[in-house]
Amino acid sequence: MSEQLDRNVGGQPDRRMGEQVEEQGRARPMVGMAGQSASSASTSAPASSAAAATLERQRAALSVRGLTGGFTGSSGAGPGGADYTPVLHDVTFDAPAGRLTAVVGETGSGKSITAMTILGIAPRTFQRTAGSIFFDGLDLTACTETQLRRIRGGRISIVFQDARAALNPVLTIGSQLSDVVRRHRRGTPRPAARQIVLDTLRQVQIPEPVRRYQQYPHEFSGGMAQRVMIAMALLCEPDVLILDEPTTGLDVTIQADVMELIVGLGRSRGLSTLLITHDMGVVAECADHVVVMRHGQVLEVADTEAIFHRPRHDYTRTLIASSRLEDR
Ligand SMILES: Nc1ncnc2c1ncn2[C@@H]1O[C@H](COP(=O)(O)OP(=O)(O)O)[C@@H](O)[C@H]1O
Ligand SMILES: [Mg+2]
Repeated sequence: MSEQLDRNVGGQPDRRMGEQVEEQGRARPMVGMAGQSASSASTSAPASSAAAATLERQRAALSVRGLTGGFTGSSGAGPGGADYTPVLHDVTFDAPAGRLTAVVGETGSGKSITAMTILGIAPRTFQRTAGSIFFDGLDLTACTETQLRRIRGGRISIVFQDARAALNPVLTIGSQLSDVVRRHRRGTPRPAARQIVLDTLRQVQIPEPVRRYQQYPHEFSGGMAQRVMIAMALLCEPDVLILDEPTTGLDVTIQADVMELIVGLGRSRGLSTLLITHDMGVVAECADHVVVMRHGQVLEVADTEAIFHRPRHDYTRTLIASSRLEDR
């Protein structure tokens, strides 16, 4: 169990994942279980702006308010304890439906912990001391584990950086994905689940999906494996898609393709997409608005155009300048 669990969460055994591993030895990554799924009608591209508006009303958005917390040391003591390390300070931002919200900031600024806290999968040693996360009329921080599990399974999906670590090496891609379908849409017969998986593999632009369905994770390149993870996230029909550095570690040309795919799928399905990245080039091209974080604090939130042309914070200017240097 523990070895598989560690693999599933990208080698970070302290994440509170145990309760999400529905079946030992099966792929865990997107936690595709039963949930209140969006209707299939709402997952197709809007035909008109009126349709788009309806779509946005149907999709739930995410709102993080005053999120504060830190890591307890070996004593387990919270704030005030000698070995408590504060990590998040009053983190506040919105991820509206139909929009791509980028969260940027240097390593260690609290981006991943924020994402994990939204999903209720932060390490056990992380203690939230204040703040709320609103989603579809619920405060996720006040939800029971059962409620949270349902939300993680069907309404908020996350894709991590290392796709292959999240896939089970001894099961075919097809069987892992159809498991997700059958958990998410209970009662789906196997042939129907297979068809849904094949359609989704096509949507994430995996060539020869019928052949790929039977292959194992090691037969997939990093970019193709990441497409599989995106497919897995979409099979849960989420309202919110969180992507934590989804293209880090991929070749630059592949990064651009995967990013284009994510942006296109998020938009056509009206999802609230939360993209965690340190790549300001990606932000400039893809994001509708940007949350700049540093040392666990939100420094500024603005639409993408304003961030690049009228940054209010020196740190934002530094981020932009360093990404331009990298481009040369
Ligand atoms: N399991 C952990 N135990 C203790 N501190 C941690 C743990 N995970 C992350 N941190 C600390 O929390 C802070 C925020 O980390 P993280 O959210 O991973 O940053 P980012 O994703 O922006 O790079 C960092 O200072 C990091 O060292
Ligand atoms: Mg991170």
